Amino acid sequence: MTATLIKGTEIREQILEEITEEVKQIKEKHGVVPGLVTILVGENPASISYVTLKIKTAHRVGFKEIQDSQSVDISEADLLALIDKYNKDDSINGILVQLPLPKHIDEKKVLNAIDPDKDVDGFHPVNVGRLMIGGKEVKFPPCTPFGIQEMIVRAGVETSGAEVVVVGRSNIVGKPIANMMVQKGPGANATVTIVHTRTKDLAAHCKRADILIVAAGVPDLVKPEWIKPGACVIDVGVNRVGEKVSEKTGKKVAILKGDVDFDAAKEIAGYITPVPGGVGPMTITMLMLNTLKSLKFKLGLM
Ligand code: GUN
Repeated sequence: MTATLIKGTEIREQILEEITEEVKQIKEKHGVVPGLVTILVGENPASISYVTLKIKTAHRVGFKEIQDSQSVDISEADLLALIDKYNKDDSINGILVQLPLPKHIDEKKVLNAIDPDKDVDGFHPVNVGRLMIGGKEVKFPPCTPFGIQEMIVRAGVETSGAEVVVVGRSNIVGKPIANMMVQKGPGANATVTIVHTRTKDLAAHCKRADILIVAAGVPDLVKPEWIKPGACVIDVGVNRVGEKVSEKTGKKVAILKGDVDFDAAKEIAGYITPVPGGVGPMTITMLMLNTLKSLKFKLGLM
């Protein structure tokens, strides 16, 4: 059996087209477009490339976009003042502070300073609480779990009553996706287990999963014999396991591997996400959706 691939690259295109269309309609009717500011502190190369892609995507879907780059030695107080400025700016619906921040800045303090109604990353404790309550309380699910749920739904995988096993308990992926899948509502209503480094028999739990979501950060952690035949396998792992020269550009690029032994797993699973090209492209896509939602909340359209 060969699994159906759930391709994030294709789903991203569908969603970005839907967002572009909705932005056009809102602009015609209400004369406004969603505004997203990304705040980048310092010159971490990975952060620069993430932020550049976020801004490029925001531009593509018709948002007002601002890239606010700050020196690595900006003081915490100045950064907090900058966030306050964007909190008060009516044309801005989403504020994203790219992480990690330099060591002299308290990350928690900064994230907590963002207006929860503009926190399109979904990292503010108010939004974590809203997610826990579920239903209409939820404003901004964090982007990676939001993307995972969307992929499962768009692939047509039944979640109601399904056994979902989440490998990993991070605040950014494991805990929120588990919380989302257990809620009442479409794309959820699942029976959820979270497993982690202290779990006694990882394999036994994984073998029960109708939907297996792996966000452990360990290359090839999940073996093919841990997968229930026909299961939906979502691999969130992006592990750099070496370098190669790109055939396209001639430049050195990272060799990426997921947390699941893909080649073997695809012969057993019913659905599987590749790495790269699976969950990865969904994160920025859902950031765009959260920013659009933020404007729609403000206009009373949601
Ligand atoms: N750094 C790496 N991933 C992310 C993300 O999703 N949001 C923010 N703000 N910073 C990040």
